Amino acid sequence: MSLSSREILSKAPVVPVLVIEDVKDAVPLAKALVAGGLPVLEITLRSDAAEESIKRIIAEVPDAITGAGTVINAKQMERMAEIGCAFAVSPGHSAGLLKAAADTGCPLLPGAGTPSEIMNLMDHGYDTLKFFPAEQQGGVSMLKAISGPLPQVKFCPTGGVSLSNLADYLALPNIITVGGSWVAPKDAVKDGDWARVTKLAQEATDRVNALRG
Ligand code: 3PG
Repeated sequence: MSLSSREILSKAPVVPVLVIEDVKDAVPLAKALVAGGLPVLEITLRSDAAEESIKRIIAEVPDAITGAGTVINAKQMERMAEIGCAFAVSPGHSAGLLKAAADTGCPLLPGAGTPSEIMNLMDHGYDTLKFFPAEQQGGVSMLKAISGPLPQVKFCPTGGVSLSNLADYLALPNIITVGGSWVAPKDAVKDGDWARVTKLAQEATDRVNALRG
């Protein structure tokens, strides 16, 4: 049985947001993150290597919960469901994207940044959303304000989140986890420095576990 997006996010101390330029990096990068305690991966469809990278991680890293990010239309949503993604993430939402998600049954984490966008997604049955771009949309103070009138909706904020501010986000009642690219720096991936990626992932995992007790 497939997990809902809320169940998936609850398994993630942090969701690494990945842009994989070279398909050969996909499996070692995923293994390095999983070894550091981060099994839920968002591979963005921002590179030519994205789809093949996702396929390889699904096939070769069974401990990862592999999702596609930057899924911005129905066609991409359908394709990601077809290749077996555990979930899809979008920076926003559109009628076509939401319909495709419903048709495929692949869990979607749609993006929202304002009360009206959140309410629109609630109308479509969503209670778990990506808050994007987090820092630019008002960050912690905006999410705190939203938790008053809309407490039933939980978020994964991404965009400008890092080790230095994740504690402020995780202290809020409406945050399940956070997403970010800092655990997989471009230069570490380019150099194949998987030990550094694991170290960054472990550092994030340890920080989250300490905060959650
Ligand atoms: C993104 O979609 O690029 C993510 O939100 C990651 O943002 P970050 O690079 O600020 O972590």
